[in-house]
Amino acid sequence: MVDLKELHKQFVLAHLGEGEVAVDFTMGNGNDTLFLSRTVGEQGRVYAFDIQEEALKSTRDRLTAENAPENYTLICASHHRVREFVREPIKAGMFNLGYLPGSGRKGVTTLRQTTMAAVEAAIEMLLPDGVLIVAIYPGHEEGELEGEMLREYFSTLSRYQICPSLFRILNSPTSPYFFLVEKSAKAPMPTLSTE
Ligand SMILES: C[S@@+](CC[C@H](N)C(=O)[O-])C[C@H]1O[C@@H](n2cnc3c(N)ncnc32)[C@H](O)[C@@H]1O
Repeated sequence: MVDLKELHKQFVLAHLGEGEVAVDFTMGNGNDTLFLSRTVGEQGRVYAFDIQEEALKSTRDRLTAENAPENYTLICASHHRVREFVREPIKAGMFNLGYLPGSGRKGVTTLRQTTMAAVEAAIEMLLPDGVLIVAIYPGHEEGELEGEMLREYFSTLSRYQICPSLFRILNSPTSPYFFLVEKSAKAPMPTLSTE
């Protein structure tokens, strides 16, 4: 059976390598942060965002226990503020939208307005040949609405610069699914204005 999280990694690995810069836009328990940290290695950099201190603690503990390279910056702030904290272009970004697994606080979830702002910023900050993964959880109402919003938005982007695709299990409509967003190798370099 298809393993969506393995597919996320395979697509990221097709674009991201040692010494590059990546962002985990929804740190949670740090699974994606750990994967990104190992992928870019000692010479790379990983920035990870979450609005809950609990996520930072859980991720810090995980990265330490797993001996991850010390190439990460954990940031307690909403991902829509990414430009305030990340002052360089990025090669990859991962969004795993929704709420912190195992926390029991399903109310603390990603929300359309800030998700949209963060995804727009991420696309602007992406280097040519960069990649974003945006995982959607349509089993709760806000997750379903985030997915619809992003599907509409991605459909409007210039196909000469951005290739957005959708990976979904067709006979299981409430299962998670994801968008793969690839920037053309011929796209212009991003500008880093904070305006
Ligand atoms: C599904 S979990 C992420 C799982 C994570 N990738 C992992 O590997 O464990 C979603 C996370 O997004 C966080 N979150 C919610 N709103 C956010 C925001 N505006 N900015 C950054 N993180 C946010 C939640 O606190 C939660 O920890």
